[in-house]
Amino acid sequence: MTEDARALTGRRIVVGVSGSIAAYKALILVRELTSAGAVVDVAMTPAATAFVTPLSFAALTHRPVVTDVLGLDPDSQIAHVELAEAADAIVVAPATANLLAELAAGLVDDAVSAIVCASRARVVIAPAMDAGMWTHPATQRNVETLRGFGYLVLEPEVGSLASGLTGIGRLAEPATIVAAVERLFARSGDLEGLRVVITAGGTREPIDPVRFIGNRSSGKMGVAMAEAARDRGAAVTLIGGTMSVTPPRGVTLTEATTAAAMRESVIRAAPAHDILIMAAAVADFAPARPSGRKIKRDASGLDLRLVPNPDIIAEVGEMPADIRPFLVGFAAESDDLEANATGKLRDKGLDLIVANQVGGPFDAIGSDDNTVTVFGVEGALTDWPMLPKRQIAERLWDLIADRYRRDDPAPTRGRKAATRAPRR
Ligand code: PMT
Repeated sequence: MTEDARALTGRRIVVGVSGSIAAYKALILVRELTSAGAVVDVAMTPAATAFVTPLSFAALTHRPVVTDVLGLDPDSQIAHVELAEAADAIVVAPATANLLAELAAGLVDDAVSAIVCASRARVVIAPAMDAGMWTHPATQRNVETLRGFGYLVLEPEVGSLASGLTGIGRLAEPATIVAAVERLFARSGDLEGLRVVITAGGTREPIDPVRFIGNRSSGKMGVAMAEAARDRGAAVTLIGGTMSVTPPRGVTLTEATTAAAMRESVIRAAPAHDILIMAAAVADFAPARPSGRKIKRDASGLDLRLVPNPDIIAEVGEMPADIRPFLVGFAAESDDLEANATGKLRDKGLDLIVANQVGGPFDAIGSDDNTVTVFGVEGALTDWPMLPKRQIAERLWDLIADRYRRDDPAPTRGRKAATRAPRR
């Protein structure tokens, strides 16, 4: 048994089941959590009971199943209150679009929403629904709200759906959900003890008090990296530029919306952190002389001279070995991905670079998904499919942590890596 699996022994886990065809998979989930040593209670929405019977869950858990928000347990306690207080974690699987909306709005009209709302336990949510419902802005907004509450929302998977169509929306496999719950309780998350600083989003370089030069970066990739690191036990500093997503809870947030401000924050933070991830899209140029007053319209046009911004990550790469963090850059490329990314890895003195495609048939900017290739000095290290950014982030952390922990930096790994001092 792995250390993660032992983490569930004796834990009180409430599994909340809502009304989806995927409810049958909750039976497998409950069986696996029970096998891992957890004490599992099940709560069901009325719709869930139309798909799977409470008796099936009771047979697996040997415990009463809560289906009624006003129900009493055998000791005459209100069942949902008792379970909400006793739970170490609540796993909502499957979570329908309707249940996500209820949870995001704080509405309580069934046993599952009542337990989640009343509890301060850690919450894992595994949605399952039709692809159109999952991608609807209302659902995505609700997911962001729930992540803002600190809940771990597992991305649904791509596959054939109950509608007969193929797309995103399938409930994550029970084994994936169990692994996520195990990680919550792992004695130490695998990144525990690491201090990581992550940049996310774009920068805005002012032309005058009203106008700016900016880019479309949403911050989703950097925020996914921050959330994954936080959930795996790292102490996370997030330096956020302009972002369209809510910064996660449980991280130290610094706002830096210009390249100059981001440089200042990164240079200040870098020596105190073990790993720097630059996922931000930092403007390479800024107007040479931003105007203090709004520039008036002029029929003859406007000549704007741009000057280069400092290359932040390259500057960190030049830090003395005892304070230089392990450096991971991102490369956003519209063409010649490998040549350009490996050039940046070399020129900026990075340990790893994560290359992704922008501006073509697939555009990583703003997308919920990404397809990346990671390069080290020895060449391409990955061959991953297109995945949701959060899943990319999990894989990236597996790779980064592994590389970071190698304590035999070979001379071939690059000048900076070869001279890096032992980790603090
Ligand atoms: O935010 P999303 O919408 O989720 O989109 C994610 C993303 C596509 C922006 C992200 O995955 C990504 O690729 N970020 C890096 C974008 C970028 O600026 O790439 P670049 O190839 O221009 O820069 C290479 C590296 O140098 C980057 O790590 C960058 O942060 C860093 N850099 C760039 C310029 C500069 N002046 N200073 C820097 O440190």
